[in-house]
Amino acid sequence: MNQRVDIVEVGPRDGLQNDAAELSIAEKVEFIHRLDEAGVRRMEAGSFVSPRAVPKMADSAEVFRQINRGVSQSRIALALNEKGVRRAIDACADEINFVLVAGEGFGQRNQKMSPQETADMLAHCAPLAHDANIPLSATISVAFGDPYDGDVDVAVVANLAARAQRAGVAEVGLGDTIGVATPWQVRDVFERVRLEAPDVFLRAHFHDTRGAALANVYAAVEAGVNIIDASCGGIGGCPFAPAATGNVATEDVVFMLERAGFDTGIDLDKMIETAKWLETILGHKVSSSLARAGRFP
Ligand code: COA
Ligand code: ZN
Repeated sequence: MNQRVDIVEVGPRDGLQNDAAELSIAEKVEFIHRLDEAGVRRMEAGSFVSPRAVPKMADSAEVFRQINRGVSQSRIALALNEKGVRRAIDACADEINFVLVAGEGFGQRNQKMSPQETADMLAHCAPLAHDANIPLSATISVAFGDPYDGDVDVAVVANLAARAQRAGVAEVGLGDTIGVATPWQVRDVFERVRLEAPDVFLRAHFHDTRGAALANVYAAVEAGVNIIDASCGGIGGCPFAPAATGNVATEDVVFMLERAGFDTGIDLDKMIETAKWLETILGHKVSSSLARAGRFP
């Protein structure tokens, strides 16, 4: 059997939180169901943050209520404080992904917390998820560079991962929120994190702001990471990161990995079709290469 790389689709959350388009709840639900049809098994379906901070995610509870639920699909809720974790539990999320930050500048603007305060908050909230029997993961945002403070110390990232592991988190993602990582840095940072948090599964989250996202996926897979975040069409970005652009596109990642013999479980044709459908809903082109060029052969 081919080596497996699992995709976590983040389009309905990271993608839609930053797109200018105003999608109705029905359109968000249809997007999620189309992604299911394309073979997605884990997906960030919404976030439970302040509606004033991120208005586009204000309707996440209703989206969670309306989407199909089943044992084969894991609907992930993003949260970054106690109120968010409680709302995610109320929405019967299958998993909660908690946001840690590796940089002070971004941390204050995104969630009004320092890196260590985000880890304190995670330790405070983890028992809530645990008591509700909901698996908890964490994404360390700006792990490769902070838009306000510049370079991020790898020791801070590794320490946050170790603190997440101690809090009982099963999976830690490293987020390149502003698309500044290089493949060599990806290798080094994942290696360091693995040393200091050896018991967690590792996940990679890259934005393609400066064109290196696919190369970074390659580097992460070479470093032994087999869970990759990606968004259909390559839509998205963070409202608190200047000039943010979308995640690496799911169809581009799937194309690259499947051509190389990895198994992702994603139906590439259906993912491209969903990216093209998304263009009609968003009212603009998406940025993925596969939506433009089509598959081969
Ligand atoms: N869900 C809904 N509302 C929330 C909330 C949550 N998770 N957390 C806080 N709020 C509400 C509070 O109830 C309060 O409402 P009120 O003014 O009507 O009483 C208001 O937000 C301010 O609460 P406070 O605790 O003072 O928050 P803050 O102003 O210090 O902001 C965050 C901190 C974390 C709430 C806010 O920065 C945030 O939600 N950021 C999200 C950033 C994000 O999602 N980025 C993209 C993904 S990484
Ligand atoms: Zn992101």
